[in-house]
Amino acid sequence: MTDTLTPVLTAYWDEPDIFTLAGYRRTGGYRALPKALATPPEDIVAMVKDAGLRGRGGAGFPTGMKWGFLPQGHEKPHYLVVNADESEPGTCKDVPLMMANPHVLVEGVIIAAYAIKCHQAFIYVRGEVTHVVRRVQQAVADAYAAGYLGRDILKSGYDLDVVVHCGAGAYICGEETALLDSLEGYRGLPRLKPPFPAVAGLYASPTVINNVESIASVPSIVLNSASWFADLGTEKSKGYGIFSLSGHVVTPGQYEAPLGITLRQLLDLAGGIRPGHRLKFWTPGGSSVPLLTDEHLDVPLDFESVAAAGSMLGTRALQIFDETTCVVRAVLRWTEFYQHESCGKCTPCREGTYWMVRVLERLEQGNGTDEDLDKLLDICDNILGRAFCALGDGATSPITSSIQYFRDEYIEHQKRGGCPFDPSAATLFARGDSARTVGGGR
Ligand SMILES: Cc1cc2nc3c(=O)[nH]c(=O)nc-3n(C[C@H](O)[C@H](O)[C@H](O)COP(=O)(O)O)c2cc1C
Ligand code: SF4
Repeated sequence: MTDTLTPVLTAYWDEPDIFTLAGYRRTGGYRALPKALATPPEDIVAMVKDAGLRGRGGAGFPTGMKWGFLPQGHEKPHYLVVNADESEPGTCKDVPLMMANPHVLVEGVIIAAYAIKCHQAFIYVRGEVTHVVRRVQQAVADAYAAGYLGRDILKSGYDLDVVVHCGAGAYICGEETALLDSLEGYRGLPRLKPPFPAVAGLYASPTVINNVESIASVPSIVLNSASWFADLGTEKSKGYGIFSLSGHVVTPGQYEAPLGITLRQLLDLAGGIRPGHRLKFWTPGGSSVPLLTDEHLDVPLDFESVAAAGSMLGTRALQIFDETTCVVRAVLRWTEFYQHESCGKCTPCREGTYWMVRVLERLEQGNGTDEDLDKLLDICDNILGRAFCALGDGATSPITSSIQYFRDEYIEHQKRGGCPFDPSAATLFARGDSARTVGGGR
């Protein structure tokens, strides 16, 4: 089964010094950079387009096409901003990637910045992860010292400066335009689009914003060719990606595999659901996408197939829940998160997330009424498509999908006048779970 995995970004995570410049260079790092600097920038953009790389931050927008949108011959500077905010519940790929191998991101930043003719790049790291901020700062400092950043990089005549910016810890600052406001020193609130960042982004200048994993994938494309990348994955979802398994699995962790792998295959690699239990529901891409169930074990995890199954590939954060989990309780927890993180700019999300928590609390405690379920769906209907940004839309996904698949469980709470589940049974330290091994995937 292990040949299902395609470790590229995670290939050397077992090496104790892979996070250092020496460790990265020893394992083939910074070999794509001279090749890229000897290639015209337009050809790098074409290479990334041909590879079929799609954004790894959730929406799956084609990366090369995004780079191609920057107006040329403009008098304003171009900026590259790396979105390293990673705050979506269950999403845990960018933080381990930056901890394990920050230089692959730095090499990707230099190549991407060169391709879009930019001389100033930013890496916006989530505020809470101070250790990651320090690690990336050190990698950037080492790259300067080695001549990979600064003036006349590798005697190519190309100049680039990189700033590592530490966010203050708000989920909304992962939304690309709120991130730009935050980076400019304002409170992070989403901006009206258009204009899109490609035209008026950071400091009203043409800006490319990409996820950590998107940018870190670029050196492998330059080194191995666009066709090498395009041969992995499926027809429209090309390449490899990091799948993060968490929850009720024997070996949670990062599994790097071609897009199109199934949850059944990933669970085989991860040792299965914890012993004595069975899969109940899971998220294919974080908490902002509709839940799936055991009916969907064989859905290829690519953008198209997951959409056809009624959900979204999102961030490939596979949160796995077995039959001990109360779906109403899980959805209540996620909704509390959205209520807390709603930036308050628009009414449907600001008010709607507040009311959804109140109704879900009643339902979970068994104090709900028949009308409450309809009310919940009605609030979702008033948020979806009417909120100013995708946070509001995402907040409705776990609710509507859980009612679609588990309406009876909501009603059972009402009939019993309380939750039918023992919350301690769902914990990973619950009795009878001693066979669980602690470890990680790649
Ligand atoms: C509420 C919210 C939070 C987001 N958080 C992140 C994040 O932490 N990291 C990320 O790369 N994209 C995040 N996104 C998506 C970004 O807006 C944007 O689509 C992405 O950074 C583009 O990069 P990509 O094309 O490389 O995927 C978020 C979107 C929303 C609506
Ligand atoms: S949807 Fe929510 S997070 Fe987005 S702008 Fe409206 S209030 Fe803010």
